Amino acid sequence: MSSAKRHVLVADDEANMRRVLEAILRREGYEVTPAADGLEAIEMLRSRPFEVVVTDLRMPRAGGMEVFDACRALNRNLPVIIITAHGTVEAAVEAMKKGAFDFITKPFEADAIRLALEKAIRSYHAARQEVHLEDSGNRYRIIGDSAPMREIYDVIDRVADSPSTVLITGETGTGKELVAEAIHRLSSRRERPFVPINCAAIPETLLESELFGHMRGAFTGAITDKPGRFELADGGTLFLDEIGEVPKEIQVKLLRCLQNQEFERVGGVKTVRVDVRLVCATNKELADEVELGNFRKDLYYRLNVVPIRLPPLRDRRPDIPLLLDYFLGKYRERLGKGVSRVSEAAIDILMAYDWPGNIRELENLVERAMLLCRSDTIDVDELRGLADEWRRDSRLIGAPAGAAADDEVGGEVDESTLKDAIRRQTRWVERQWIDRALAETGGNVTQAARKLGISRKSLQMKMKEYGLRKDD
Ligand SMILES: Nc1ncnc2c1ncn2[C@@H]1O[C@H](COP(=O)(O)OP(=O)(O)OP(=O)(O)O)[C@@H](O)[C@H]1O
Ligand SMILES: [Mg+2]
Repeated sequence: MSSAKRHVLVADDEANMRRVLEAILRREGYEVTPAADGLEAIEMLRSRPFEVVVTDLRMPRAGGMEVFDACRALNRNLPVIIITAHGTVEAAVEAMKKGAFDFITKPFEADAIRLALEKAIRSYHAARQEVHLEDSGNRYRIIGDSAPMREIYDVIDRVADSPSTVLITGETGTGKELVAEAIHRLSSRRERPFVPINCAAIPETLLESELFGHMRGAFTGAITDKPGRFELADGGTLFLDEIGEVPKEIQVKLLRCLQNQEFERVGGVKTVRVDVRLVCATNKELADEVELGNFRKDLYYRLNVVPIRLPPLRDRRPDIPLLLDYFLGKYRERLGKGVSRVSEAAIDILMAYDWPGNIRELENLVERAMLLCRSDTIDVDELRGLADEWRRDSRLIGAPAGAAADDEVGGEVDESTLKDAIRRQTRWVERQWIDRALAETGGNVTQAARKLGISRKSLQMKMKEYGLRKDD
């Protein structure tokens, strides 16, 4: 760790508590910035970088959760430690679920706070190293160099700096959130907050207040005035994830807010004006939802100014090896394993698989395979789980009966048989792919090779191997 002073933001409305925390932390060599309430803390956060934030939960003007949200918006790795009195432990646990780093109950020992801080700083630096890893990719921090992805990068570049609303669609796990982040990072709003909100994860009754904020006493449980995500995102980007899940009553309010860039908090009379760039995502077909009457047409048009349609992984198979490499690196560090490659046979299987869960599924698979792996190479053995799912999954275009291995007999597996079976299965799938690509391109080898993401030469070799001729 560097010898530079580590900077901590301490937010607590009790002057005494602030003094105690400051004294403990200064003695440990931290530089401390105190804040007397949530709003002050949020202002401080925007004014300079911190390595850890320690915050009380209940404070006037804005509470610890708002401070936490602001931290997330500014820097998702920034660790937040919640200090909580006896009565608010549940709230602190909620905060942990949302990603707070730790919580400490009052009264606390100096040691407890010291240890929590050390742990937080260590994790912060570990996370930053990961960010460097991401930096080593392209400037979008998205892995993929296939033609469909390059088109996506083009669109990102073109729209990043425009104020237009962007609607990102695509199957689950295709990287919609990554694209939203890239748009923000490459826009002139990059120094301002990126505020994500998952509309599906918030109960209908709370969504309006989450988005627009509320005034104290607006409803039971509204104990303080609270800014909504629109206000937190002022000057920056608001990412409305799963926009298809927003109920119709709120769709109306969203529409109005988009048209006028202004709204009222729940229970409030004052009009709030904000400057927010909106990026939305959904894995539903919003046009269908409009047809079905579940989504307002006018809002749909308003959101769909710039549509970005992320292709499923099976439509950009050439990216699979790149993604494998990237996730191998990521989990090698995280799991401390010496696994550095994937065998040819395993890659063949992964290239042929349909990936209904897209990149998320691939990432999970690499992590699992790496845990199972006992050498430096991930081989078909480690993909056994995939083969299982695969067999259940009818997407395995009716594989020949003998092709799939049977490893259910008392957990005993004859490895040579399994490998053999998978090899046969792979060849069979590969042949189907080549057949299909050739059929679709009218037998044009160059075009078929491009579709398959392999070179023309290796396609010719494979065609020879399988006894396929292009005029077949
Ligand atoms: N091209 C990519 N390069 C590297 N990582 C990726 C890529 N695409 C997705 N991921 C990773 O896969 C996971 C899923 O991505 P993300 O959350 O953006 O998907 P999503 O499209 O929002 O899915 P959902 O609709 O289920 O929310 C994340 O961990 C993300 O970092
Ligand atoms: Mg998502």
